[in-house]
Amino acid sequence: MLVEVKHPCIQHKLALLRDSTTSHKEFRELATEVTMFLCYEALKHVATRDVSVTTPVGEAQCKVIANDVIAVPILRAGIGMLDGVLNLLPTARVGFMGLYRDPDTKQPVQYYERLPPEAQEALHLVMDPMLATGGSASAALDAVKAAGVKYVVMICIVTCPEGAAVIERDHPDVPIYAAAVDERLDERKYIVPGLGDAGDRLYGTI
Ligand code: PRP
Ligand code: URA
Repeated sequence: MLVEVKHPCIQHKLALLRDSTTSHKEFRELATEVTMFLCYEALKHVATRDVSVTTPVGEAQCKVIANDVIAVPILRAGIGMLDGVLNLLPTARVGFMGLYRDPDTKQPVQYYERLPPEAQEALHLVMDPMLATGGSASAALDAVKAAGVKYVVMICIVTCPEGAAVIERDHPDVPIYAAAVDERLDERKYIVPGLGDAGDRLYGTI
């Protein structure tokens, strides 16, 4: 399931993120803000449990999120989304998935993995700003599932039909939440119009 979140607050910030004149500082701030909104939408249907809370005036029957949530940024650019998730879910634990896309083959290369233990029942939010060919995200989801994790949601800022189709083929159980589904990939496998190289724009490596 691919959900393109078209809320005007997200689309406004996405327009600023796309702008090639946006500075690294602003890009980081915007990535955090967009992720907060995406995460809010992605958790719309998360399981809750009933709790009773004593207010200054009486008992209130309330709901809290039922399961632990674990944020899993795909290094490096996914780190740019981590604060957005943690702003919304400050008690979330964090796992890291190190992957880069080989510049020649465009295939994902995994170089690091550190997931919180005993978390098979936790909801894992795997995040990467760019879901382009889908290779990196699919490999990350393979690795998370290999750890026994049952519930996974993918959050990205920009994707395209090719990349989303790869995740829907390889991981049909994983919903994808994105701020935009762009036109296509170019010959370098960059998303068009996209926002460029997200890692470089976040960290000033251009
Ligand atoms: C980028 C991006 C994704 C991947 C997307 O990372 O952050 O991880 O490419 O491409 P794909 O869908 O075709 O696999 P990159 O490899 O540039 O590494 P970085 O985050 O370290 O810059
Ligand atoms: N990685 C990026 O950072 N941007 C793209 O458009 C594709 C892969």
